This record gives sequence, structure tokens and C-alpha cells, in this order.
Amino acid sequence: MVKISPSILSADFSKLKEDIDTIKDDCEYIHIDIMDGIFVPNLSFGIPVQASIKKYFTNVFDTHLMIEYPLNYIEQFYKAGSDIITFHYEAKNDPLEVIEKIHSYGIKAGISIKPGTDVKLLDKYLDIVDLVLVMSVEPGFGGQKFNPSSIDKIKYLSDMKKLHGYKYEIEVDGGINYETAKLVREAGCEVLVAGSYIFNAENRKKAINDIR
Ligand code: DX5
Ligand code: ZN
Repeated sequence: MVKISPSILSADFSKLKEDIDTIKDDCEYIHIDIMDGIFVPNLSFGIPVQASIKKYFTNVFDTHLMIEYPLNYIEQFYKAGSDIITFHYEAKNDPLEVIEKIHSYGIKAGISIKPGTDVKLLDKYLDIVDLVLVMSVEPGFGGQKFNPSSIDKIKYLSDMKKLHGYKYEIEVDGGINYETAKLVREAGCEVLVAGSYIFNAENRKKAINDIR
């Protein structure tokens, strides 16, 4: 069964804890989108917000860094409770260095690619990462339309995983709803990130069950 990682970017920040309370029992992960206004043309929230909510939840904290220099912030996110830190292949630091730094804190390392990036560029990291995040929208904003180019990337990652016995989880992020969830699940996706589909739903529990 796929895991669900609701993106709190679509939550109401004035009542963040209550909003997460409505989904926490139905999902495995909580997806935390961190933006620096440089790697992506938007800002979200930062380390103190993650640290504040960490106190109340036992879900896996799935931190998605959309920032130019991830290396400088790994320690702070580890201290703020990240269980998985995912950074972008397209960011400015050397991916190997970032993966090693994340692992040095005993937590999981994920690597992500934007819709325009060739998935094969990740080949040399596949045996050491714990998660690969395929972006199915341009990172930066919730509520965008799913880009189907992500499907072949998920299939490729699923084939590579079977072929070599790799351990990473395949995660997708952006435009996930009832229809697109089915497509990515069939392609081999194992963790679904969804923001607007879950938080804008009248019945969030049902929305989570529907995409699962
Ligand atoms: C986009 C973020 C996503 C976003 C997904 O940059 O990485 O996690 O919150 O939102 P939806 O599910 O609404 O596309
Ligand atoms: Zn995200």
C-alpha cells in the first residue's frame, strides 16, 4: 500500500496544529515544503515552524528543501525534527556531499528532480539515497496541474529498483488527486505527496483514502 504525505503548504497556518490533527491518524508522513525565494520564486515558512509542530506529532517528518544551498541547513532541520531530508539535484551543492551530511545525523536522505530534469542524471546516487522525489509540477506552489512526464520517470526508478535491489522509496509531489494518484501508483510510486487535494477536501480522511 502506498504511503501518504500531506503537504502542509495547503494548511491554514493560523491553525496549523488543528489542521494537522485532522489528518495525522490517516497518513504516515507529514510533508514540509521549505522555500528560499531563490531556488524557487516563492517563500514558505522555516525551521521554527517545523520545530514547533514536531512536538505534537509522531508521523515521519518528510522535509522537502527547495533551497539553493541545502548543505548549510541540514543540521538545523535535523534538530527541528526531520526524519527524511530531501534536497534538489538542481541545487548548488554537490549531491554526494549533501547525502553524506544528511546521513551523518542518522536520518534518511532524499534527492528530487524538477519536471525538466533527466531522471538518468540520478543514476549514480540511486544506491545511496533512501528516497527519490519526482516533482510532477514546477516546485514553488501548491495547486498546480500534474505534469505526466513524471510517469515515465517513476517507471524508470521502479525498474532500476527491481533490477539492482535498491532500497529507496519513490515519492511524487504535485497535482496529485484521485485520477493522477492512480496513474502514479500504477507506475510504481510508493509515497504520494498531496496538498490542496487533501486540505481543500470537505472530508480529508476520505480524500486520503481515495488517493491511497
Ligand atoms: C510544490 C510543493 C508541493 C505542493 C504540492 O513546490 O513541493 O509539496 O505543496 O501541492 P499540491 O498537492 O496542491 O500540488
Ligand atoms: Zn513538496
